[in-house]
Amino acid sequence: MPVSIGEKIELNIEKIVYGGEGLGYYNDFAIFVPMSVPGDKVEIEIISKKKSYARGIITKLLESGEERIDRERVSFEDFHGCDFGMLNYDAQLKYKELLVKDVMEKIGGVKDIEILPIVGSEKIYNYRNKVIEPFAYGKNKEIITGMFEKRSHNVFQVKENMLSSELSNKVINKAKEILNRDKNISVYNEIQHRGILRHIMTRTNSKNEAMVVLVVNLKKVSKEIEKFLLELYNQMDEIKSIYVSLNTEKTNFALGKTMVHLFGQKTILEEIEGIKFNISPSSFFQINLDQTKKLYNIGISYFDNIEDKYIIDAFSGTGTIGMILSKKANKIYSIEIVKSAVEDGIKTSKENGINNMEFIIGDVNKEIKTLMDNGNRVDSIIFDPPRKGIEESTLRGLTSHKINELVYISCNPSTFARDTKILLEERYTLEKIQPVDMFPQTVQIEVVGKFTLKK
Ligand SMILES: C[S@@+](CC[C@H](N)C(=O)[O-])C[C@H]1O[C@@H](n2cnc3c(N)ncnc32)[C@H](O)[C@@H]1O
Repeated sequence: MPVSIGEKIELNIEKIVYGGEGLGYYNDFAIFVPMSVPGDKVEIEIISKKKSYARGIITKLLESGEERIDRERVSFEDFHGCDFGMLNYDAQLKYKELLVKDVMEKIGGVKDIEILPIVGSEKIYNYRNKVIEPFAYGKNKEIITGMFEKRSHNVFQVKENMLSSELSNKVINKAKEILNRDKNISVYNEIQHRGILRHIMTRTNSKNEAMVVLVVNLKKVSKEIEKFLLELYNQMDEIKSIYVSLNTEKTNFALGKTMVHLFGQKTILEEIEGIKFNISPSSFFQINLDQTKKLYNIGISYFDNIEDKYIIDAFSGTGTIGMILSKKANKIYSIEIVKSAVEDGIKTSKENGINNMEFIIGDVNKEIKTLMDNGNRVDSIIFDPPRKGIEESTLRGLTSHKINELVYISCNPSTFARDTKILLEERYTLEKIQPVDMFPQTVQIEVVGKFTLKK
């Protein structure tokens, strides 16, 4: 018997499916329930319905599954926007491993490969070194920041966000303290497209230093904004760099196109494998440093040997992986589309005395082809694309250029599985695959795979 929207029903949750939601059946009709755990008995309200399934949110937890950490908290908001926060950490790892196996079978068509055990994180809270929070008004017209509620653009605030670094929480709380004391800068309203304060972004490093970027709906930095940021800068020694991002557009992108450097250093530094990386406001840099070190080590260990090789670091961000490889390799081509990230990379390589890297600003899908068509030697490629994965034409072009070794780091197992299928058709063998948990408390999964070309 189908259900209808708004109806309340009781349901037993049987398993967790790809995407992290729990699944239960109501008279054989599949119902997905976010924030539920196998073994839960829940009362839910149906919020959407399709032909063959519906989705409901928990209104009451009647009995809790063994892997649930807390009986009192049930909503997305209770767990600070973390869609796996309700599971104990061992269970999070277990399900992530199973979800990778499942997607590799269903999308990748890979059944016979052993998936190496997931690499868990020692730090399971406060690991985020980059945080962006929107501004809003609270119940008493006070300025708050936080996250968007799951099904609305209302902002909810938590005192200490459980994923943000402790320093990020401290900086953001201090900023709100000053803003609420002076009450002279308004909050942006996206419907009316009026008001000033849009977002606050922090980047922090392992030396407990912070960069602050205030995103405002202004064409140039006003006196009030400058005064507020100067006070923030002077009150916290940990803040080493302050920017204002001017964003007057009606857009969901947080950062605007113009970035004004106001106080302190232009970049903050982070160290990996003895190399000091420059990080500026809009450059990609991995969010969880301890896990990043493990991820890179795994990826790099997948090369048969590095010595004397010509390697492309594709989707290179600030050139992190390429620089570590450059210590042993003959030459690294680092390809990245964001100019500021490449500029950070060039600065970093000079400061670290690295001179066997060539930085290319451009689209990987064009630049790899150009490099190879121009007859440059390429022995191996390490890919680390964004969630949408790699373009099919790029993958199909590798075989004819006899690129024997590929290492593929992915933040989206389903596009990794799709790309694996293409590579298998192109005579590559998937040698190994290992998930790494870069984002505890969330359903995000990173995987590293190694492919070799069949002779
Ligand atoms: C997942 S990040 C990896 C960055 C880097 N490997 C690291 O670990 O810091 C993906 C990077 O790919 C870049 N990117 C996205 N699409 C691109 C494209 N078509 N060509 C080149 N770079 C691209 C993004 O700007 C981002 O820096």
